[in-house]
Amino acid sequence: MNPSYYHLLHLFSLFVLTAHTFMAFANPAPENRKKTLMITGIAGLLVLISGFGLLAKLYAGPMPAWAIVKLFSWLGLMAVGGMVYRRPHLRSTLAFVTLCLILVALVMVYLRPI
Ligand code: HEM
Repeated sequence: MNPSYYHLLHLFSLFVLTAHTFMAFANPAPENRKKTLMITGIAGLLVLISGFGLLAKLYAGPMPAWAIVKLFSWLGLMAVGGMVYRRPHLRSTLAFVTLCLILVALVMVYLRPI
């Protein structure tokens, strides 16, 4: 498949994941938990699949270090959505952590410091 499709899926699912994570931060009501976890779970899975699809298409061979860092950012991003329902008082901290995780992933892909 053309890597542009993976790029598109990667960015679109990333927007969905980020939007729903911040919706959870804005209103961590228990009745929204199931829906948020379902949407962020599916979007997160698509980010991962398209990310590995891009790696396979564009960077055959051993996984580059910047991609490993992105994988850890992704893990963190997947965890924060569920966490805010259990610890709603930490939501501003979690929102800050989420922004940092996204920034780290963006620095890794655009600046490639490692
Ligand atoms: C926090 C999660 C992530 C964010 C914010 C993120 C962000 C991005 C962005 C913005 C691009 C587009 C770069 C461009 O168009 O030039 C991109 C491309 C890419 N991402 Fe991710 N990504 C994330 C997770 C992952 C994961 C988990 C993987 C795989 C392990 C991955 C692998 C890739 C690859 C291989 C590319 C293509 C790089 C290139 O075009 O040279 N990403 N990512």
